Amino acid sequence: MRIVILKDYETVSNWVANYLHPKISLSMQDEKHPFVLGLPTGSTPIGTYKNLVRYYSTGELSFRNIVTFNMDEYVGIPENHPESYHYFMHHHLFDHIDIPKENINILNGNAGNLEKECQDYEDKISINGGIDLFLGGIGPDGHIAFNEPGSSLTSKTRIKTLSYDTILANSRFFDNDLSKVPKMALTVGVGTVMDAREVVIIATGYNKARAIRQIVEGGVSHMWTASMLQLNRRMILVCDDAATMELQVETVKYFKDIEKVAGEILPG
Ligand code: GLP
Repeated sequence: MRIVILKDYETVSNWVANYLHPKISLSMQDEKHPFVLGLPTGSTPIGTYKNLVRYYSTGELSFRNIVTFNMDEYVGIPENHPESYHYFMHHHLFDHIDIPKENINILNGNAGNLEKECQDYEDKISINGGIDLFLGGIGPDGHIAFNEPGSSLTSKTRIKTLSYDTILANSRFFDNDLSKVPKMALTVGVGTVMDAREVVIIATGYNKARAIRQIVEGGVSHMWTASMLQLNRRMILVCDDAATMELQVETVKYFKDIEKVAGEILPG
């Protein structure tokens, strides 16, 4: 696992967008090979999306040859509900870039047959050649997408019941009213994220520090599902100082030193 520790949310957002830049740029040169990008929702990636929108509006990047697969969606709220992940993605990213509508994939939490919806989603990822890069956030309990503690570490896209912690954390988007928060979601599995050729996880703020400690210093455990990503061959965790507050001082120093040395010997 590569761990990039930066000072704050803005620096993290700039770093991640800048990391994606050449990959999106390269996709413009080869129409036959779209870049397949997995995407998260949540407050964490908003800064990254702002930067991507800026790259588009200044003419630096086009998203015409990008195919996206979102991580998850609530079950049973309309797509135009301001807290649906469909709404979120259009509001923060898709409405402001030139990605073709048919290249956007988001699970349909209102499908008549939810199990079939999940299987079709996995099939579509395969038909597209798999995910090149899965961008993700993490929940305060170390979950990835909606793979709550105890989820199978080889799981694929499926229906999940949300944990009380997640319902509580997400109630801030639903007038702090627990009863308004959907209790079920469709989510890609830990295995779906693991299958991506590359994974970039963003974690900012002190409320992620406990999860970061488990994911970085602990072993692989289904109680902290993002810890499975220790086994991905190309995994980068990008966090701000606040998210590293529960790590040992020597762990932080170790990873900062590696980045420093890499910065000195690698071009660019
Ligand atoms: C939800 C989403 C996750 C996201 C997490 C953290 O549970 N399903 O994909 O990573 O929230 O959200 P935030 O970035 O707002 O902390």
